[in-house]
Amino acid sequence: RPPALIWVLLIVLVAVAAPAIAISRDDFPSGFIFGAGSSAYQVEGAAAEGGRSPCIWDTFAHEGRTEDKRTGDIAADQYHKYKEDVKLMHDMGLDAYRFSISWSRVIPNGRGPVNPEGVQYYNNLINELKKYGIEPHVTLLHFDLPQSLEDEYSGLLSPKIVEDFTAYADVCFREFGDRVKYWITVNEPNIEPILGHDLGIFPPNHCSSSLASSLGLNCSKGNSSVEPYVAGHNLLLSHASAVSLYRKKYQPNQGGYIGITLLGIWFEPATRLPDDIAAVNRALDFLIGWFANPIVYGRYPSVMQKLVGSRLPSFKSEESTMLRGSFDFIGLNHYSLAFLRAATDNPDDDFRDWYTDMSVSFACTDSIFSPCVFFSMFLQFHKQKLQRKWNFHQVFVSEDPPITPSTPWAMQRLLDYMRNKYGNPPVFIHENGYPEYNIDPATCGHEYYDEHRANYIKDYIESMLLPIRNGSNVNGYFVWSFMDSFEVVTGYRSRYGLIGVDYSVENRTRYRRYSADWYSKFLKPNGGFT
Ligand code: NOJ
Repeated sequence: RPPALIWVLLIVLVAVAAPAIAISRDDFPSGFIFGAGSSAYQVEGAAAEGGRSPCIWDTFAHEGRTEDKRTGDIAADQYHKYKEDVKLMHDMGLDAYRFSISWSRVIPNGRGPVNPEGVQYYNNLINELKKYGIEPHVTLLHFDLPQSLEDEYSGLLSPKIVEDFTAYADVCFREFGDRVKYWITVNEPNIEPILGHDLGIFPPNHCSSSLASSLGLNCSKGNSSVEPYVAGHNLLLSHASAVSLYRKKYQPNQGGYIGITLLGIWFEPATRLPDDIAAVNRALDFLIGWFANPIVYGRYPSVMQKLVGSRLPSFKSEESTMLRGSFDFIGLNHYSLAFLRAATDNPDDDFRDWYTDMSVSFACTDSIFSPCVFFSMFLQFHKQKLQRKWNFHQVFVSEDPPITPSTPWAMQRLLDYMRNKYGNPPVFIHENGYPEYNIDPATCGHEYYDEHRANYIKDYIESMLLPIRNGSNVNGYFVWSFMDSFEVVTGYRSRYGLIGVDYSVENRTRYRRYSADWYSKFLKPNGGFT
């Protein structure tokens, strides 16, 4: 046995050679915002209370279309428990909370009379946040369009949505804009039309009948080759119109910021072959450029114009002018990446849609180390007709315990891409987080040791330092999600929360997870949770 002195020397040597890598918020520029997020339908509950009318997600969930056939009727019950939640945010040390307003709570018919009880709820929530110095970052539309507008004129498919969205935004700016300084017009408008109007796995559940019969999708009639582009177009115009109103009527006095938040999955070429590299550029134009190009440059990416042709609506010159520069920041929701190849087959006209138009194929393998995470999964199944029943958890459950791949270098590339291609706009990482699928709370407790989530968040936070040093204009980072909530598509089977929620009890008890403790130590170097 080596003498004690040797042990001491060895320990000292190891400690000096491999110091614990600790990051803290002090490593970030001052003013950098750290927060966590949620959305109305996913956390609020109280679906039929306080004068709220149904949104399209109520209808969809009540038709049993989510994986677990459950609804957001109660969800995490934040409507009743917001005070407890805000206190938890404060104790965790969050600078900001990103949440969304339920349009059909504020204006139950989608347009027309304002519901004072709805306004009161958001005033209460905002005031509670302000009481603790937590900055509200507010999304106006996070998937939950009022059902009445869907019924009346097919929602996003009608240009009428522009006027109604602008009127709704007007109410929100007027009622809350004295305290809300960060507005997000629309969340993920670059994927919602695909999910809702192409594949039918989001409300309003549209897809082409050829697609439905071939893939066994359970969706109602639509036209996948046209609808996503029309819905996207109307969302772009709704966004630009709300921004223009804000800039004229409110921003000069209220002095806030307004932007839009895009799904920012990153794509990598499966090989270095020029065709595969070109496929990646195309896919980035179809996913990010679809919205980023119009708001930065006033037009759709030329590759989209070329490949989609007359199915892609065009902007009138005044619309193009209104769109150009219609943001103070761009939000990015980033979780993962996918490897792509150039498509080798010609799209069959029956299946022509956003995915076939971009002419790529996803290079997925079973291994979680070749990530082909949720985004590519449903597209892959759609295209290759591999699986009639799409599911989101294949990658997550491919190991025991299920581990979500962590590839923070992809987020660095996304930030570089925004800097190089879009003139370095101010950006926020508005969502980044770690899902767990089918965690059984009965065996591990809601407050379980979610080490993988904590590591994932730490890796992604740390990864922002390099792009920031390289001049990327990134201003803040929000974990998705502040708490477990109703997850789009999988219902309550996926958990993303820093805070766990016990859905088995009526009062939806909250539990602090290890990841919440980690985040709070990061945010409060001398303290942690109080
Ligand atoms: C995207 C959406 O904005 C959010 O609603 C969803 O829960 C997360 N990402 C995770 O899927």
